[in-house]
Amino acid sequence: MHQNHTDRARFSGRTAVVTGASRGIGLAITEQLVSEGARVCITARKAGPLKEVAAAFPEGSVIAVAGKADDPEHRLEVFDTVAREFGGLDILVNNAGINPAYGPVAQLDLDVARKVLEVNVLATLAWIQGAVAHPGLRFAERCGSVVNLSSVTAETPAPGIGLYGVSKAAVSHLTRTLAAELGPLIRVNAVAPAVVKTQFAQALYEGREREAAEDYPMKRLGIPSDVASAVAYLASAESSWVTGHVLTVDGGLTVAGGTA
Ligand SMILES: NC(=O)c1ccc[n+]([C@@H]2O[C@H](COP(=O)([O-])OP(=O)(O)OC[C@H]3O[C@@H](n4cnc5c(N)ncnc54)[C@H](OP(=O)(O)O)[C@@H]3O)[C@@H](O)[C@H]2O)c1
Repeated sequence: MHQNHTDRARFSGRTAVVTGASRGIGLAITEQLVSEGARVCITARKAGPLKEVAAAFPEGSVIAVAGKADDPEHRLEVFDTVAREFGGLDILVNNAGINPAYGPVAQLDLDVARKVLEVNVLATLAWIQGAVAHPGLRFAERCGSVVNLSSVTAETPAPGIGLYGVSKAAVSHLTRTLAAELGPLIRVNAVAPAVVKTQFAQALYEGREREAAEDYPMKRLGIPSDVASAVAYLASAESSWVTGHVLTVDGGLTVAGGTA
């Protein structure tokens, strides 16, 4: 009999790492994976809020390791903890991302640019390298799935957040490049959202949400669960023949000619 996927636990017995998951999109991804049976290790820089969030999940389903996504010692601590507590890794979601600068790229402080590329691009690569190399995770043996957070700004430059777009273009290309290298056992995909209502994007719509939503054929901005369901599809066995794909999740913004 046909089952639709809401009544199946797609992630039963599966384990995941979701970076940057104390709020926003990362938290929604964690909620979705856990609700479908996964055990998840979440990360963020601030230990307090991260631990509080982990404690609100059913016992044993979520563990928290605080640290910076671009810190090699933190990554190793996460992977060692996952190997010890979960016995292996099936899903890696590179969600942590930053955009500390607003303004023209032509005048951007290069140290700020370096930091954006360090966290959004090089750390994404390093998490994937680390997951593949860690013997206790058996990521390839378990047919691991990586999902990276890109953005519609990867394809269409958006005024004021240009360098962020450059970093997300690199994430999209890294996704395709690693997918070609890491098959057949490991899949690498990405999602590319437009504006999603989180703390991160608040400045882009605060006080003008209705106006901002007008540019979207779906006539609303995104919410974190819009992205989480796309990530869950790419993380699950339902997408087992999909790799190197960047899935746009934008309420139609880009086909209507809009920018984030
Ligand atoms: N919201 C949007 O409109 C939108 C659109 C397209 C793409 N995205 C992408 O989606 C991802 C999540 O964004 P969001 O909107 O959910 O952001 P958010 O609400 O600001 O949440 C970011 C999360 O990441 C953590 N974090 C930030 N910097 C970190 C770092 N260096 N190392 C580890 N953790 C870090 C934060 O906790 P701490 O502060 O405690 O570290 C928090 O848990 C990002 O990659 C972003 O680029 C967002």
